[in-house]
Amino acid sequence: MLIAKTNLELHQILSLQSSNKLSIGFVPTMGALHQGHLNLVKRSQKENDFTVVSIFINPKQFNSTEDFKKYPIKTQEDVKLLESINCNLLYLPNYEEIYPQNGQNIAIDLEELNQVFEGPQRPGHFEGVVSVVYRLFELIKPNKAYFGLKDFQQCKVIYKLKETYFKNIELVFCETTREKNGLAMSSRNSRLSEKGKILASQIYKALLDAKSKFMETNAQSHLAKVSEKLSQHNIEVEYFELANAKTLKPAKVWQKPNENVILTAVKIENVRLIDNIVF
Ligand code: PAF
Repeated sequence: MLIAKTNLELHQILSLQSSNKLSIGFVPTMGALHQGHLNLVKRSQKENDFTVVSIFINPKQFNSTEDFKKYPIKTQEDVKLLESINCNLLYLPNYEEIYPQNGQNIAIDLEELNQVFEGPQRPGHFEGVVSVVYRLFELIKPNKAYFGLKDFQQCKVIYKLKETYFKNIELVFCETTREKNGLAMSSRNSRLSEKGKILASQIYKALLDAKSKFMETNAQSHLAKVSEKLSQHNIEVEYFELANAKTLKPAKVWQKPNENVILTAVKIENVRLIDNIVF
């Protein structure tokens, strides 16, 4: 596997690929890779000639310095994992490569996308995601880019970015990879104790429960009950709500099939976890 740490190295490698007319698949990450990331890489490998993974822990998308400092860094393990699945190129930039001093802030109208769910809970988060993904798309110029649907709202924001600036890039949103007990894989799970991980498996169970109750009776009151059950397990629920899966506007009654999403964010052992279910 090739590793590029500077934009010059990246450019030299990528220009060779594009002069050979090879299609480029791109998986942006913040490292601490797990099976969910590897599934994105494998999907990219199936659909492209050359796959690039980036690892950059983007300070701009953390609204709390404490959260940023605690973000797991596992670069050596990540390199081994990517080598084991024959990834072509790892882009491992430092802060200056991504945010040069003369760099400009990206203007984008996220409309109401950053006013719901994660938006108010994490001020500045999506603006930070937009800044880094814009820069990565600009440097890598992929044909296709791969993102996990666990970060459902992020997928919507990145779609908006693509529609505004990168019409030629195809976005591929992939199913959430889960542990056997249903827990959505996330780099943050490594900060949970074994007990915390078992507790966290209640999140997906609650989503499944809410979905089936909703489909039976279409009653909003069930969401509150299911969320209350999570709280009884000592899980701190920030939100557990239904929205329109297309617009992300909060909804009271369920819409057409596949246009409903229940989104949740909870805290367990002071680790913030998000998940969702579309139906
Ligand atoms: O989903 C993530 O890991 C990050 O938000 C991303 C897309 C790599 C941007 O830093």
